[in-house]
Amino acid sequence: MTRIALITGGASGLGLATARRLAEDGLTVAIADLRADAAREGAAGIGPGHIGLQVDVAQEASVQALFEAVETRLGPIAVLACFAGLLSTAPRPGRLPLVELGVDEWDRLMAVNGRGTFLCVRELLRRRATGARVAHGRIVTVASLAGQVGGQQSGAAYSASKGAVLSLSKVAAREAAPLGITVNTISPGPIDTPMLAQTVAEGNGDQKYLGLSQVPLGRIGTPDEIATAVSYLVSPGAGFVTGATLDINGGMSMR
Ligand SMILES: NC(=O)c1ccc[n+]([C@@H]2O[C@H](COP(=O)([O-])OP(=O)(O)OC[C@H]3O[C@@H](n4cnc5c(N)ncnc54)[C@H](O)[C@@H]3O)[C@@H](O)[C@H]2O)c1
Repeated sequence: MTRIALITGGASGLGLATARRLAEDGLTVAIADLRADAAREGAAGIGPGHIGLQVDVAQEASVQALFEAVETRLGPIAVLACFAGLLSTAPRPGRLPLVELGVDEWDRLMAVNGRGTFLCVRELLRRRATGARVAHGRIVTVASLAGQVGGQQSGAAYSASKGAVLSLSKVAAREAAPLGITVNTISPGPIDTPMLAQTVAEGNGDQKYLGLSQVPLGRIGTPDEIATAVSYLVSPGAGFVTGATLDINGGMSMR
């Protein structure tokens, strides 16, 4: 039986590249996204047997309905990858200064990036604790270099929400361990997706990113490089890796 993978935010960018990669690895993939049509198109594009569904990860009832729908249609979820995320809109290129950040914008970012990740992780752990167990259970959460060092182009609400993801994931790793589920975080630097395009200058390729001089590898990353990392973290061979944060940032921050 193939393992079932649920990928939130899977209709675009890093989530879609990861959905494609996990399908190539032999998993059956459910793509969930705020944009239902794009989720269904994404699933159809990666091959037969994969499904696309609508979800708003910020809404508890929507997350619960999503998991119920996926497990009814495909079976117990073994792999969860939480890519759904939002960035503050800001002058382009540039970021929203902290002193201009309003409560509504803070809450909007926290609701999707922070609460959304919490709701999805909690739902999977509840289901694996009380329902069917799965082999090689895996959760991958998605933080950001901005959550580790303070965002250069992404602002306070985004950076703080990704800090929340980093801490939540470590707590989840401890609590998921008795269920045989690992929880790890990927922390990307600038990767070429529609989200990065919201923060950068007009231009082509690497030149879109204003901080290129701070990237030791001298370029921005590709969605496939993120997908490859997730493919490893969810593989059976990564079974002794949990509570880890994998930096994928071209060397912008070394620990
Ligand atoms: N691209 C980068 O440089 C970069 C760097 C670090 C972290 N990240 C993180 O990676 C993740 C994916 O980013 P991306 O660059 O692929 O962005 P993207 O904008 O291409 O994709 C994000 C997806 O999330 C979906 N989404 C937004 N709100 C949602 C909600 N409430 N419920 C369900 N789906 C929702 C969007 O519809 C979209 O399809 C995000 O969490 C982002 O913060 C990206």
